[in-house]
Amino acid sequence: MSKFQDLSLQVKISPETYIKFDGSEQLVLKNIHSEEGISIKYDIMLILYELVDWRSVGELIAPWPPDDQEKIIEHLGMLESQHIIMTSDAESMPLPESGLSAHLGKNIHINVENHHAMLRDYIRLAAYRRAIERAVKPDTVAMDLGCGSGILSFFTAKAGAQKIYAIERRPDIILLAQALAEANGIAEQIDFIEGASSHVSESRIDPKADLLVAEILGNGILEENVLEFTIDARRRFLKPDARMIPFQLDIYIFAFDSGLAMSRQEEVHELNDLYGLDFSLLAKVLCNKATTRMDRYNTMLNKTMSEPVMVKSLDFRILEETVFANRFELEALEDGQITSFCGYFKAHLDEDTILTNSPWAPATHWTQLIYTLAAPYPVKKSDKVTMEMIYDGALRVNIATDLGVH
Ligand SMILES: C[S@@+](CC[C@H](N)C(=O)[O-])C[C@H]1O[C@@H](n2cnc3c(N)ncnc32)[C@H](O)[C@@H]1O
Repeated sequence: MSKFQDLSLQVKISPETYIKFDGSEQLVLKNIHSEEGISIKYDIMLILYELVDWRSVGELIAPWPPDDQEKIIEHLGMLESQHIIMTSDAESMPLPESGLSAHLGKNIHINVENHHAMLRDYIRLAAYRRAIERAVKPDTVAMDLGCGSGILSFFTAKAGAQKIYAIERRPDIILLAQALAEANGIAEQIDFIEGASSHVSESRIDPKADLLVAEILGNGILEENVLEFTIDARRRFLKPDARMIPFQLDIYIFAFDSGLAMSRQEEVHELNDLYGLDFSLLAKVLCNKATTRMDRYNTMLNKTMSEPVMVKSLDFRILEETVFANRFELEALEDGQITSFCGYFKAHLDEDTILTNSPWAPATHWTQLIYTLAAPYPVKKSDKVTMEMIYDGALRVNIATDLGVH
């Protein structure tokens, strides 16, 4: 029997709220003051690991089905082994005393792994620091949207800004950022605001900002509803001619031939005889649909089959659209086959500071966005493949089904 069966786990996610797992049927989100809990059916790993915006979990009220118990226990074991949570065994071990742990309570465990990786991305931070230092004047009022560890606010403070609003929706990481600002003697300049930016009232931001600094770029390029949040922040929190870092984001796609695409193709081939049934019709539907994964594009192992094409350029200073669909063409560089497509971004931080996760640029902590076709697509040199890109919260790329090669 797993030791987690008896575990009463409590993870505090803000001074007032904690998640409780009592090893039986339910994972409960509780308010410390009222002791009223709501049961939430959600992926425990997501909640504990990412501490997602828990204000939205109200929609997910439901008891854990008993079938999920084993999965939860497995997750807990994994989270414990990574020291993301502590069990009652470990709870007796004293935590190092600090202002932060006193504030958070001893059950909090901040997941800083991804922020540490971002902090160690010197290319990313050199580019941001340069753009920030060029933009900041002594009277600058700035906003750091999604401040995370606070690093971009700290660069802005060190560059001499008068005031910085640092907004962050993860309650654990913003406390860390505050403690770091104090440790560095720059807390006076920074106004920390906990919560998703969309929940911050317009009147809270007074005076309005003349510089927006945001790094909410992900491996999936447009993640975390970045367009909605950026447009909303521009409309409600910025002065009319405010500068934005980045002010523009370009999305590039190119085609390639990868040996690794085989397993996906085998999965589709299986559909010809699935449990003794013929599912080949589904294979036809899947044929031009690409599956997505985040991975590093290996310039040595893969054969590049087209030049990269800029398929979308988003100017955040004037952008209004939060969904889009585009058609574009990729031209085959040689005879062969296309198995996959690779997407990457170029973020324009200022007129001549560009940050990119292009596979040919020096590596950053970002991977690339890889799309794999269900079946290889044969091409002859100079063939033009008509593609479509759709963004509706996730960025999808497919061969345009009604046109194909022409
Ligand atoms: C990619 S991290 C960057 C953190 C930090 N700015 C840096 O450069 O290291 C993005 C951060 O933005 C936060 N975030 C994303 N959207 C947000 C929003 N709308 N309001 C507040 N925080 C947000 C995430 O929780 C995450 O900590």
